[in-house]
Amino acid sequence: MYAIPFLDLPPLNAAAGTVRLPGSKSISNRVLLLAGLAEGTTVIHDLLASDDTRVMLEALRALGCSVESRGAQWHVTGLGGRLKVHQAELFLGNAGTAMRPLTAALAVLAATQGGDFRLSGVARMHERPVGDLVQALRPLGCEVTCEGQEGYPPLRLQGRAGGRLNLSQPIRVRSDVSSQFLTALLLALPLVATDAAVVIEVDGELISKPYIEITLNMLAQFGIKVEREGFQRFTLPAGSAYRTPGDVHVEGDASSASYFIALGALAARPGAPVRIEGVGAASIQGDIRFVEAAQAMGATVRSGANWLEVERGTWPLKALQLDCNHIPDAAMTLAVMALYADGPTRLTNIASWRVKETDRIAAMAAELRKTGAHVIEGPDFIDVTPPVQWRAAAVHTYDDHRMAMCLSLAAFNPLALALTPGAAVPVRILEPACVAKTFPDYFEALFSLARADAAAVPVIAVDGPSASGKGTLAGRLALSLGYHLLDSGAIYRAAGVAAQRAGADLTNGAAVADVCRGLDLRFDGDRVLLDGVDRTDEVRSEAGGLLASQVSAHPAVRQALHELQLSFRRLPGLVADGRDMGTVVFPDAALKVFLTASAARRADRRHKQLISKGIQARLADLRADLERRDEQDRVRSASPLKPAEDALALDNSDMGIDESVDLVLEWWSQRRPF
Ligand code: DC
Repeated sequence: MYAIPFLDLPPLNAAAGTVRLPGSKSISNRVLLLAGLAEGTTVIHDLLASDDTRVMLEALRALGCSVESRGAQWHVTGLGGRLKVHQAELFLGNAGTAMRPLTAALAVLAATQGGDFRLSGVARMHERPVGDLVQALRPLGCEVTCEGQEGYPPLRLQGRAGGRLNLSQPIRVRSDVSSQFLTALLLALPLVATDAAVVIEVDGELISKPYIEITLNMLAQFGIKVEREGFQRFTLPAGSAYRTPGDVHVEGDASSASYFIALGALAARPGAPVRIEGVGAASIQGDIRFVEAAQAMGATVRSGANWLEVERGTWPLKALQLDCNHIPDAAMTLAVMALYADGPTRLTNIASWRVKETDRIAAMAAELRKTGAHVIEGPDFIDVTPPVQWRAAAVHTYDDHRMAMCLSLAAFNPLALALTPGAAVPVRILEPACVAKTFPDYFEALFSLARADAAAVPVIAVDGPSASGKGTLAGRLALSLGYHLLDSGAIYRAAGVAAQRAGADLTNGAAVADVCRGLDLRFDGDRVLLDGVDRTDEVRSEAGGLLASQVSAHPAVRQALHELQLSFRRLPGLVADGRDMGTVVFPDAALKVFLTASAARRADRRHKQLISKGIQARLADLRADLERRDEQDRVRSASPLKPAEDALALDNSDMGIDESVDLVLEWWSQRRPF
């Protein structure tokens, strides 16, 4: 997960490989609620781990359900339809799939068993309508108060024990703003359809119908067989009671699949598809029909029960005119695929976009325009014409996971350059952590499939003498930018340790280089593993440093470790720390920093470092050592210590680490095109 202010995606030009989808958000939150209301324990497999399911799990706990995670499964023991807790404050973030059904369920439970519940969320949740649901609940006798603006959360749900609901008339609900209102009633009313059947009638046009199919499917799994007349009238039979099915498997998220289907359509060469595991042709999720839209744009798709394989078919993609009411969430992905089409694409009947995590029509229009696209926005449609000239865009994500995931696809602009002139450009995703709502590891998954030219993957080189603080600076830069880190000193240290363990003559470059070529070296966070064994302490010790100093002087050793160091240049970027990063290993680094500090200051820092580890040392000796090492490194023939010609010098003698990091990040931002 990238909890950073922005994530820069280099220009990407191909994709292949397999992604395993996280669980469906819609199914996960429905299953959780049903498991929480049902009698007995439900074992949930493949539940989505995300912000939206976390708030639902917390709500269930607050209501007295037993909720336990055991390995990859969740065990939820439900209330059996009887409230255990009669008063609770539930914070539901920005999860519509938690707010709407919990509102309905707690409203009917409070009205019949007594209770006082307050449901709130983030500021945006309080701008997302629930009026049609509230208006369906009040005539039943549910006491629902909108604490802020009428028709919006926060909501208060109250009632006295022994209360009776008026269920003899059909319950009418409008569902032209959100299908979640009907879903909420369908999930809540079995709790009170004990003595007589309960009928729900839909007023006006029901939008996003496929989500209702998911709801009905989940209800059936928990023992409620709903009779229906199309999408107009639903009857919950008398004697309804939730019974756990025991085990429930959550399908992969079909909306999340759309990004990878798009990835295949754009960037997977024939014969080397993007394979998506977790959903397939038999999915109960409506967004699976995104596949047809992608095919209409030119994608080649094969599918099985639980998988999809996608590769590029027609190129450029074919422009599309589509009524997207049946795939409201996945349709956002089409708006970005439209950047690669042979003409303007128009997506219609998408008014619901305006009441989602953000106003998605406005947001999509504003951000797509930044890439150079021509976009027309209407009350319930969007029209996208591909850029004539692509521009490097820093895109806002509006705390909307789908904005972040969709716009990441704009990084494949090199593929459009065959169609339009210009240069490949990176894309900056602002506040990328918003993907945690449904797909916390989205960018990791993207980077595992996407390819870029090595030269397009940016490198920041941090060189400098011993104890200048370059390791700390490099680590902090990598964290701030979400980049990989290459601690090349650790590679030489590990090589020294391995050579010594192998009994090699350390003065013999060829012998040590032989050991280096067979080196089984892995970094696991801070830990260094040699041949699978944790040798961190040895590698990081002063003795390890001396070994490194010895072996790194051999040109053959430096050559033997060259490829290994190059392999750290991976998406989305690299901060490389060490002596010759900017001069030899990554001479094309986009930014080179040569970090220095006075010998006195470096000795002082090293002294403090040693003391903190409980190692005694004399300051004067340390300083003399450092000066001797500087001299040795400066005059040695193989990669002597010297700044790259185009390096920016940073003397941090009188600077704290925060100040140095900020300064280098400022230099970096000046080199970026945003
Ligand atoms: O940065 P460090 O203390 O971990 O480095 C250990 C030794 O390895 C030091 O003597 C310099 C050498 N080294 C090198 O020659 N080239 C590098 N890229 C990194 C370190």
